[in-house]
Amino acid sequence: MRSVEDLDLKGRTVFLRVDFNVPQDETGAVRDDTRIRASLPTIARVLDQGGRLVLASHLGRPKGKVNPKYSLAPATRRLAEIIPNKVVQAPDVIGPEVERLKGELRNGEVLVLENLRFYPGEEANDAAFAVEMARGIDAYVNDAFGSCHRAHASVDALARLVKIRAAGYLLHKEVAYLTRAVRNPAKPFIAVLGGAKVEDKIPVLENLIGKADEILIGGAMAYTFFKAQGFDVGKSLVEDDKKEVALSILAKAKAAGVKLRLPVDHVTAAAVEAGAATRVVEGFPFPADQMGVDIGPKTAALYAEAIGRAKTVVWNGPLGVFEIDAFAAGTMKIAEAVANADAVTIVGGGDSVAAVHKAGVADRISHISTGGGASLEFLAYETLPGIQALEE
Ligand code: 3PG
Repeated sequence: MRSVEDLDLKGRTVFLRVDFNVPQDETGAVRDDTRIRASLPTIARVLDQGGRLVLASHLGRPKGKVNPKYSLAPATRRLAEIIPNKVVQAPDVIGPEVERLKGELRNGEVLVLENLRFYPGEEANDAAFAVEMARGIDAYVNDAFGSCHRAHASVDALARLVKIRAAGYLLHKEVAYLTRAVRNPAKPFIAVLGGAKVEDKIPVLENLIGKADEILIGGAMAYTFFKAQGFDVGKSLVEDDKKEVALSILAKAKAAGVKLRLPVDHVTAAAVEAGAATRVVEGFPFPADQMGVDIGPKTAALYAEAIGRAKTVVWNGPLGVFEIDAFAAGTMKIAEAVANADAVTIVGGGDSVAAVHKAGVADRISHISTGGGASLEFLAYETLPGIQALEE
């Protein structure tokens, strides 16, 4: 994959696909600008070289229709506060007015297009829409790691259309960390997988069996594994239609000699509600009115001890409902353990990233991915459509 570093961009108009799909508050203001800041090195590289920048992103899911609620304008305003260059918000993604604005760009200036998903052609990966976006463009750079699992027009069709194309620094960094973890990890390699659903994690589990030395499971997905083995998990969340695949994953892990570990104790409650009384439960059956809401203290200690021996840790998905303080201890203990590990540590997924921030340990993680779905898909398939479009 070529890097933005290898391109001579002086006087060139560069289409830079970023992921400015940022959280906003009730007034529409940017609540967390991590993703904007994450692409600053690439933005600076283009502008400092005297390139002319056409920035593009989606925001939210406006489903192919113009909706002011999903305008890129707040993100554009934030960018303009951060960089000294002239930054202009375009009123559209394509069309004569946008072409005029592209043509007026001078070296070192930025034009931010409106939300790509205001057009149905974006998600449809429509070739004609890509042709319109390519007008007036000399080079294409993708720095939108968080969107690279989507074969959408700005990620796929457009990239293939522009001869001069490259990856930005953020995309390179994300790919470098994740590639090393799945292809050449320092051992022991421990994966921590949590979250509500087994369904979301099946391809990752299948790929990591045979690569990871241990896979530590938590979150509600653990209860599908237990129920599949015939244990009574009370009111815990279970995906009944995933019990077969859970059993096959357990069998594959056993055959591959990978330790796939499930919680040995659980924090339970009668409901997922702040203020609900909690109990610690070991073994089965669970009391009929109880559901698992966190890993128990013994499990947290065992998992933390395993993480402490690791040289590579990949974590995706919380171990319990950590948004509620009474159900957060397990996830917080794991966050601490990952931060304390003398290892390359990679955290991906919106909830686990929020958990490391809640635990106050974000600055002690080697790499916090800006892509939730993208990092999970990379761990499963070891490439992404957006990366393939740049390479082919
Ligand atoms: C994300 O926030 O994970 C990316 O921006 C992709 O957004 P999407 O899930 O709406 O495609």
